[in-house]
Amino acid sequence: MKALIAAGGRATRLRPITWTRNKHLIPLANKPMLANAIEKLVDAGITDIGININPGDTEIAAVFGDGSVYGAKITYLEQQGGALGIAHVVKNAKEFLGGEPFVFYLGDNIILGSLRRFVDRFERENLDVLLALSRVPDPQRFGVPVIENGRVVKVIEKPTEHISDFAVTGIYLYSSNVFNALVDLQPSPRGEYEISDLHTLMIDRGATVAFEEITGWWKDTGTPKDLLEGNALILNDRKMWQIRNEGTVDVTAVIRGDVSVGKGSVIGKNVIIRGPVAIGENVVLEDCYIGPYCSIGNDAKIHGATIENTIVFSGVTVKDCHIVDSLLGQNAMIIQAASYPPRGHRLVAGDNSYIEL
Ligand code: G1P
Repeated sequence: MKALIAAGGRATRLRPITWTRNKHLIPLANKPMLANAIEKLVDAGITDIGININPGDTEIAAVFGDGSVYGAKITYLEQQGGALGIAHVVKNAKEFLGGEPFVFYLGDNIILGSLRRFVDRFERENLDVLLALSRVPDPQRFGVPVIENGRVVKVIEKPTEHISDFAVTGIYLYSSNVFNALVDLQPSPRGEYEISDLHTLMIDRGATVAFEEITGWWKDTGTPKDLLEGNALILNDRKMWQIRNEGTVDVTAVIRGDVSVGKGSVIGKNVIIRGPVAIGENVVLEDCYIGPYCSIGNDAKIHGATIENTIVFSGVTVKDCHIVDSLLGQNAMIIQAASYPPRGHRLVAGDNSYIEL
């Protein structure tokens, strides 16, 4: 089997972070989000992986290269014709997939557990489509299956009414028959080739379509809140990140729970860290409280601050303030102005910034 990962798109809901960085490279537990998809595929024995990227994107290849570090062989496929929908990503990869069955994985989905169960069933039952479903509190945000007598009879993209507790996740297994349907798939009213319409079309044409439920957690990381939850879910799962102890820790520092400290990092005096917390390389912490559910990127400097449930990208400086539930983009400086005499906050805020002071 081969695999195709979708890693293009504009991710407007994550601006301003995504003005300057591909969403799929946002770090969760200090690892680019996309690494999770690659690792899951390799773990399921699938190493020939195509990654769909925006035309001209060089960022993703700069991070993952030929894939050998992950035990994979990666081919980068530029999406031709612009953002024409998720089903178009599959169409675009026809030549790479070369008539073989494949896993199609939306790179902003993260899951607990292995894909092997899905691959085994798909092969054993010689299916055309296997959909991975997950129970969610808000199915209207996703593709939703209509299930009758244990079979999916239709998939509706972002339905306005409640149809099912299930969402169709962004992990699909296809036989090469998918390309017969893609020839006839028509764009939706918003002008996109919808993956849910593709599934309905295949069902109508008698394809063998089955589903499996993802029993552990599944997360689609579309919004800042989703990213923080994804970060926390990974930090809560010891199998999905590595806990290292490679820095230096002052005797006055208190470290509790799962805390990873990367090479060259200095945990200075009067630091309290309550895990799970991932600290990258060459980070300097002093007189601060960090945790739980924080990822601190390489070269960050934190002094006199408290930070909880936050993703701190590399090169960030935080001084003398209290930060919760936040995303702090690369090289951001967050510094508390002197509180007396009262002074206004000085900001250089990007388009669509969200700032709560
Ligand atoms: C896409 C699909 C949707 C699916 C979801 C899973 O939606 O269109 O059917 O349930 O991914 O992540 P999007 O996240 O692009 O809105």
